[in-house]
Amino acid sequence: MSILFDSEKKIFKLDTSDSSYVFQIFEENYLVHLYYGAKIPDNNLTANYYRGWFASFCPSNAKVKADCFSPDVTPMEYSCEGAGDFRVSALAIRNSDGNNVTDVRYVSHKIYKGKPALEGLPSLHLNSEDEAETLEVLTEDRTTGALVTLIYTVFENYPVITRSVKVENGSDARMDIERVYSCCVEYERTDFNMMHLYGKWLKERTLQVRHLAHGIQSVVSKRGSSSHNHNPFVALADEKATEDYGEVYGFNLVYSGNFSAEIEVDAFNSTRLIMGINPESFGWILEPGEVFQSPEVVMVYSGEGVGGMSRAFHDIYRNNLLRGKWAKEKRPLLINSWEGCYFDFDDEKMVSFARKAKEMGIEMLVMDDGWFGKRNDDTSSLGDWFVNEDKLKGGLGSLIKRVNDIGLKFGIWFEPEMISPESKLYKEHPDWCVHVNDRENSIARQQYVIDMSRKDVRDNIFEQMYAILSDNPIDYLKWDFNRNISEAGSALLDSEHQKEFFHRFVLGTYELMDRITSAFPDLLMENCSGGGGRFDPGMLYYSPQIWCSDNTDPIERLTIQFGTSLCYPGMCMGAHVSANNRAGIDTRANVALWGTFGYELDPNKVSDEDKETVKKQIEKYHKYYDVIHFGDLYRIISPFENHYRSAWSYVSKDKNEMLFTSVVMRRPEISSYFVRFKGLDKDKYYKDEETGEVYSGALLMNAGLNFTNKDCSDGASFLKYFKAI
Ligand code: GLA
Repeated sequence: MSILFDSEKKIFKLDTSDSSYVFQIFEENYLVHLYYGAKIPDNNLTANYYRGWFASFCPSNAKVKADCFSPDVTPMEYSCEGAGDFRVSALAIRNSDGNNVTDVRYVSHKIYKGKPALEGLPSLHLNSEDEAETLEVLTEDRTTGALVTLIYTVFENYPVITRSVKVENGSDARMDIERVYSCCVEYERTDFNMMHLYGKWLKERTLQVRHLAHGIQSVVSKRGSSSHNHNPFVALADEKATEDYGEVYGFNLVYSGNFSAEIEVDAFNSTRLIMGINPESFGWILEPGEVFQSPEVVMVYSGEGVGGMSRAFHDIYRNNLLRGKWAKEKRPLLINSWEGCYFDFDDEKMVSFARKAKEMGIEMLVMDDGWFGKRNDDTSSLGDWFVNEDKLKGGLGSLIKRVNDIGLKFGIWFEPEMISPESKLYKEHPDWCVHVNDRENSIARQQYVIDMSRKDVRDNIFEQMYAILSDNPIDYLKWDFNRNISEAGSALLDSEHQKEFFHRFVLGTYELMDRITSAFPDLLMENCSGGGGRFDPGMLYYSPQIWCSDNTDPIERLTIQFGTSLCYPGMCMGAHVSANNRAGIDTRANVALWGTFGYELDPNKVSDEDKETVKKQIEKYHKYYDVIHFGDLYRIISPFENHYRSAWSYVSKDKNEMLFTSVVMRRPEISSYFVRFKGLDKDKYYKDEETGEVYSGALLMNAGLNFTNKDCSDGASFLKYFKAI
């Protein structure tokens, strides 16, 4: 039993593999948070509510007898706006009287095996009912009739709890949700570093670590997507925690739109974290009887440092987020045409790519942007998803047949949420693009965004995509999204509902993705947004891999991949060998082997010598596929901490294999280079594939190996593979 309710003390205790999460039904049915941290066997925590206070400035409830109870000071399980809690609040509902005072109290609860799916939203799923238990706590605001259900799912074999919130209008008057965060977590400590991932196009997911300070610190997106700029991930790490030791709490929102994570450290030295949809660009009208479901937050607790947190995210995402055949089955090794030829191709060029790619051992050709409408550059045709037969003479079917006959599978690129002003679709339906009346639309990459909140628009795009995908044997789809949303509004929403636009857009995108993945369950999807601008768990639910960045420079990629690996597994990180010549082709491959691996160059321009190298790289890709895709990641030298080298390893779950990668970013000042490996079995003996030398796991992890004689010039790299004997 991972969820226990102590009916005497009225305490809920949620136990994952390594953590406990405890809260209580307090006097007057307030829900009070008591503990979240390393697993504890007992629940004698009721004194934890007490933090004292300075009387008149911290409002209280006269009916509560307990000493020093105040929603402003007491750790609240789900903080509400306007009823005595002045800290960041998770919930605010404006009622028909016009005020937004919100105050939900416990009504009832149920505990059951399994996990509910969230209506219209991606979320973790179970492979069997036994994997998790769920607690639903029904709360009510008795004044307004808002019924708010706090949903917790507890995983028995992972240090993971998921949380979401459902709001139902139980009154007979309309209510307006102003904010509904998916979780609220309280700590009676402030000795944390906050870790988060910021970035931009070509430099996604840069790690930022800062000590918590009194006041509010936050990361948000209001760009309409989770964005390059901030990832919907935040961690609180004990200030003494490192990559390998100490407590770290990770939070990742399963959502691809505007999000917010706010952390407030108050004057009583407590820390509150809330995470969910960004309220700044959100509002939702709930008519009587209607229900609103928030997205889900995945909460991970690690007692084994940042690395332990990452491995827990990787495990749960591989097993319980990714879906369908490609979550487990070996994916075809692809070559993507984009960096090889951009828009400049025709059927003959694609066939020549396929022929050359086949010679090297590549298994799939992906034809990127430029195959549809009149698209020869980025000025036109998004929305016109029919084949440009001037380019692909004989049509798509004929091209795919030729590629298939060579022995390659075929993949294609779409950007379904966009519309070019220069397109047939825009001329026919100018009001289908996202816009607000009487205001000029901003343009970005020569394009507008199409209004995914509208069903008629989604139907049209679905039909166009369906025609292409059902008429042709297409194995892979790259789903792109190349701008953010400004002038956010829909022609179909009345003035009161315009505030719902952003969330409706995200729900619309999810619905379209759902229709495509249901109609074509064997299609391998790769998400993309100008590289990794929508690298979030919401997208991973539909596409098991996401193009990590348009930056394919192997050295600059290191920070991007390190940052991404904080919570996303390597098997989801789109990583290709390109023609970028900053480092040799070996280093480009060694870096791309961290992720999905593939090629993105003109294969006709690969020299004979490099062709032989590519063949060897592909052999390695096959050989190491399982350890990379299903093994545990250990980050050994971080490019965020070391200016000279980066290193990481994958260790198979049975600890029989290890693949180690080391890259020189810049010739180190100190030549000596020892590596102490991680995650091996100390009692096993491992053979170095290259030298035949045998070492114990204990030796490898404690004494380590001396790599001082390895090439340490700029951009040099090496792989080392060890197998237990
Ligand atoms: C984005 C993607 C690229 C490529 C182009 C095509 O920038 O990240 O990989 O698909 O769009 O326009």
